Amino acid sequence: MQKYTIFEIPKAESNIFANYSNQFWLRLIIMKTITVKDKHFALSIDSSEILKSVEQVAIKINSDYKNDIPLFIVILNGSFMFAADLFKKIDMPCEISFMKLSSYQGMETSNTVKTLIGLNEEIKGRKVVIVEDIIDTGITIENLIEQIKIYEPEDIKIATLLFKPNAFQKDFKIDYIGIEIPNDFIVGYGLDYDGFGRNLADIYKVVS
Ligand code: IMP
Ligand code: MG
Repeated sequence: MQKYTIFEIPKAESNIFANYSNQFWLRLIIMKTITVKDKHFALSIDSSEILKSVEQVAIKINSDYKNDIPLFIVILNGSFMFAADLFKKIDMPCEISFMKLSSYQGMETSNTVKTLIGLNEEIKGRKVVIVEDIIDTGITIENLIEQIKIYEPEDIKIATLLFKPNAFQKDFKIDYIGIEIPNDFIVGYGLDYDGFGRNLADIYKVVS
């Protein structure tokens, strides 16, 4: 359920409001909030901003692959909404496949990564683009790349809607990034909290 909640911004010497005023009533802001299971989330990225970033990613991919026939591998479940909006803007001939693995339970990232399932297309010699919803520590995507490399693609690139640079523990390059975000736990636009919240058009971050 959506509602609007009044939040108090902490009193501080050096936030954007400090020069303005530290008066109590000026530090109150109204945020669109939702409840998913036992947690409260506040609006973080609205759908128009998400769609602008998706379009930017598509423009770069269209330019890089204009003379190729890439194979996109969408990693389910979280990427389904990103993929649906992205591919409407992709204009070269391409194949799109969906694969699945899961490594996340509740709000804790896990170090154990399960095997990739669901690949039917020939990967050998293909230009592959992995489509992910979010890269956090990078453990999942690194493991995915290793598993896909076994099939000998010509080249593998990564497209992610969201990236948490402060959580990222790896040193490989991420080729296409929609939006860089802080280390908050988020839901919406395909991303879930314990299986819920994937259907939200906007992205919300946990507040309590
Ligand atoms: P990583 O292995 O730590 O990079 O985590 C990647 C996976 O964890 C993503 O594909 C998501 O399924 C999940 N994940 C990471 N951060 C979040 C979040 O803030 N909300 C929901 N799922 C997340
Ligand atoms: Mg994912």
